Order: sequence, then C-alpha cells, then structure tokens
Amino acid sequence: MALLFAVAVCLCATPMASSQEFPFRNTSLPFDERVKDLVGRLTLEEMVAQMSHGGANNNGPAPAIPELGINPYQWGTECISGDVDAGPATSFPESIGLAAAFDYQLLYTFARAVSNEVRAKNNNYTAHGDYSFHTGLSCWSPVINILRDPRWGRNQETYGEDPWLSGYLGRAYVTGLQGNNSRYVEANAGCKHFDVHGGPENIPVSRFSFNANVTTRDWRMTFLPQFRACIEAGAWSVMCSYNSINGVPACANKELLTDILRNEWGFKGYVVSDQGAIENIMSAHHYTNSTVATAEVAVNAGTCLEDANEEDNVFASIGQAVSEGLITDATVIDAVSRLFLVRMRLGEFDPPEMNPYTKLKVEDYVQSEAHRQLSLEAAMASAVLMKNDMTMGMTLPITTPVNSACVVGPFINDPSLYFGDYSPTLMPEYIVTVQDGLQDAMISKALSYAEGCTDGPKCK
Ligand SMILES: *[C@@H]1O[C@H](CO)[C@@H](O)[C@H](O)[C@H]1NC(C)=O
Ligand SMILES: *[C@@H]1O[C@H](CO)[C@@H](O)[C@H](O)[C@H]1NC(C)=O
Ligand SMILES: *[C@@H]1O[C@H](CO)[C@@H](O)[C@H](O)[C@H]1NC(C)=O
Ligand SMILES: *[C@@H]1O[C@H](CO)[C@@H](O)[C@H](O)[C@H]1NC(C)=O
Ligand SMILES: *[C@@H]1O[C@H](CO)[C@@H](O)[C@H](O)[C@H]1NC(C)=O
Repeated sequence: MALLFAVAVCLCATPMASSQEFPFRNTSLPFDERVKDLVGRLTLEEMVAQMSHGGANNNGPAPAIPELGINPYQWGTECISGDVDAGPATSFPESIGLAAAFDYQLLYTFARAVSNEVRAKNNNYTAHGDYSFHTGLSCWSPVINILRDPRWGRNQETYGEDPWLSGYLGRAYVTGLQGNNSRYVEANAGCKHFDVHGGPENIPVSRFSFNANVTTRDWRMTFLPQFRACIEAGAWSVMCSYNSINGVPACANKELLTDILRNEWGFKGYVVSDQGAIENIMSAHHYTNSTVATAEVAVNAGTCLEDANEEDNVFASIGQAVSEGLITDATVIDAVSRLFLVRMRLGEFDPPEMNPYTKLKVEDYVQSEAHRQLSLEAAMASAVLMKNDMTMGMTLPITTPVNSACVVGPFINDPSLYFGDYSPTLMPEYIVTVQDGLQDAMISKALSYAEGCTDGPKCK
C-alpha cells in the first residue's frame, strides 16, 4: 500500500514540476516562439476543445490542460459600463451617455477604472480557482456599431451614429482598457459586433437570420472605419455578429474576417462569435446543413472561438472536419495560436511577480472613492441640457436652494432604468435618483414630478 501511494504521488507531481521548464514558460523567449512551443504540444482534440469553449453556461471556460500545468480560462466577460455580473462593481454611464460628453480623456480614464476592477476581481477569482462566467479578463466590449435605426434595442451601448466618433472613442476605450504596459495587457478589448449590425430585432426578420445588404461604398464609409480604428488602437479581439452581410453570415464571412480584418488591417488577435452565432449559420440562416459544414465555413473564414449557449456545440465537430480534409491542421493551429497569444500577453504563463497587474486588489478599486467620483463626473458630463436660461433664475448648476421645481420623465425615480443593459450588479447604497438628488436642493419639500404619460397630471 505504502509503495503504491508513493508511486501515485510521484505520477501526479511530475508533470507539474517539469511544466515549469517548457519553453512556452521561458520569459526570455519572444511571445510567438513561446506560443509555437505551447500549441505544438497540443493534440488535435485539445485544440478543438480550446476553440469550442468560449461561451456561456456550460460552454465555458476553456478547459485546463493538466499535463502542461495550464489552468482553465474564462473568455466570456462584459465590461461596457463597468464589470458586469461578476460581483459588486462600480457602475458608469452607458456608452451613448459617455459619447455625449465628447471627451476622449474621460472615456480613457473610465476604461482604465473598469480595467482595474476587472483585473483586481480576476486576481481574486483565479486565486480561488473560480473560472465561472464573467470572471475573466477578455472583455466583449466596446460596442461600436452605428446607431442608424432608433428601433434597435441596443443603441445605448454604442457611441452613436458617426463612424469617425465611434472609432475615436473606441480607441479611448481600447487603449484605456488594455493598459499601457509594454509587455502585459491588463484586460483585452473585443470590438463588436462585426459587422453591419444594428437593425431592429425581430422585426420583420429575427436578428439571428437578418441579411444586411450593403453597397461597397456604404460598407467602407459607414460600417468598417470604426472597426479599423479599434484594431489600429490595438484591440486583441473582434466578435463576429449574428447577421449576414450580402448573403454571407458574418462568422462565415471570409471577405470580412480574413481579407479585410487580417490581410488588409493586419489583425493579430482572435475572432470570437456572438453567442450562438455559429449555430445560427445553420439553424437560422440555413447557409449550411450540418455541424461539420458549419464548422468548416466558420473556421475557414477566420472565426477562432465559439461562444455558444450549450456545451455540445458546433466547433466540437472541427476534428471531424479536419479528418474529412475540410479544414487544414494549419488553420486550426493558427486559430489556437491566436487564443494563446492573447492569454500569454495577459500574463498567464509568466511568473506573477513580473506582471504589475497581478498585484491589484478588489478593495483598492471596486467602489473606491476615486471610482465613484469618476462615475459622478462622467454622469454629469453625459447630461445634455436642452436650455440653461440665466434669466429664469433656475439654472444649472444649482448653487442656491430652490423653492419649487418640477421634474418630468420616466427615469425620475427608477434606478433600474438609469443603468441600462450590460450594467454591473447594482449596489443600492450608492444609487442617487434624480428625485433624491433634487430633493437635497429644495428649501421646502415642494418637488413635484411626473413620470410620463400615465401620471402627467400629477405635475403641478
Ligand atoms: C530560456 O531561453 C533563453 C534564450 O533562448 C535560453 O538562453 C535559456 O537557457 C532558456 N531558459 C531555460 C530555463 O530553458
Ligand atoms: C473572491 O472570490 C471568491 C470566489 O469566487 C468570492 O466568493 C469572493 O466574494 C470574492 N471576493 C471579493 C472581495 O470579490
Ligand atoms: C502608463 O500610464 C501611467 C499613468 O498615466 C504612466 O505613469 C506610465 O508612465 C505609463 N507607462 C508607459 C509604459 O507608457
Ligand atoms: C438582400 O438581397 C437579397 C438578394 O438580392 C434579397 O433576396 C433580400 O431580400 C435582400 N434583403 C434585404 C433585407 O433587403
Ligand atoms: C441543404 O439541404 C437541402 C435539402 O437537401 C438542399 O436543397 C440545400 O441545397 C442544402 N443547402 C446547403 C447550403 O447545402
């Protein structure tokens, strides 16, 4: 018994010890050589597992590779107005509000704050072996789609209708989020949704099967410039969108993901699908008829990672597509190398003491005084004042107490509406509604309000 026990311990311990000596952990070597070494040690089955676990529910995290001492990695993280659904976080205004401030530096500073919270929380989560959804470092943001149709339910996630401004502010976000360390990326940005995305949802055709017809001129002048700016700012990821473009689903669109993104713009990062978008190539667009054919068109177009709803997803059949000669080994190796290059730049395979971001602590950043102040400043800068008439005596900022005031609108006292979609978990102790805020400026209690059409007459 004693002998067997000793043997078992030895078998378990050996791979971990030697894994420290693999060249992919040698920090004196260039990143591309290290990635080549790492990926060269993976079986096809392991590579397929890495490409097919980028998403939600049971679809993530990417599995551990025990013989190389590699931990799981959680790709799915949302950071558009703070760190979403990963425990408490400071909440900032939605993108459309930040864009209304027309202030590059404000957006950059905000993105630095978000990045510090994402990294600090990830330091804690990984220390606890927690790789659950939204705990990672790879943000699915910014959203730089063009606001063209007011019926789209996600316009508030964008920087508005202008391709140039969207690219300019996208750059502030990307450089702020990723940090300026020459060796390490603090948290990686992912520009989405690529491309020609942003119409009404489910009217008249579902967003999962919508085909956006676009002329070359409109594509180049309206829907590509902001993504190009995002890539030039250094974003390490792009998310391909649900829709088709001129009949070809975005995640199967070689012209988009290879000819333009990689060959024209020199993109070195990875492409992740929108959640379920690969499945939709088959089931919503009817562009293919089988999982193998769907994997074939998506991988060959340049999608590296599937964000799916379920564990049993399309990219699980990449192995079969390779064995049938539909996808080459080289294409799989290229996709997996892009994923590991980003993990390496995030610092996962270096000693933690080399990476200053590993020292960030939750208690120093999340809802810190500095971050709450920044959120307040951003909220003030995002407000659009329709009229500020000095002769009326009631002007902003309110510096002297007011006798009476009336506030009109549905957001007066409903914090759930202030924050919008993709906002961090709300912390009620830090919320001040418009009504609460104005009440403090009143001499008497004479603050009247009307939430909107249902109770308009209440406003005296
Ligand atoms: C790491 O790489 C450098 C540069 O090639 C080499 O000199 C060194 O011996 C390597 N270290 C280890 C531990 O293999
Ligand atoms: C740290 O991570 C653990 C494990 O997920 C979690 O229970 C805990 O709340 C986290 N702590 C903070 C301060 O976020
Ligand atoms: C990064 O930004 C910080 C804060 O602005 C600055 O102190 C530091 O010098 C910058 N580092 C690099 C490598 O540019
Ligand atoms: C896009 O073009 C195709 C082919 O001409 C056509 O069948 C389809 O209806 C068009 N879609 C839209 C939304 O205009
Ligand atoms: C899918 O199968 C149907 C019925 O066999 C066929 O008509 C259609 O052309 C196929 N589509 C593709 C994209 O292979």
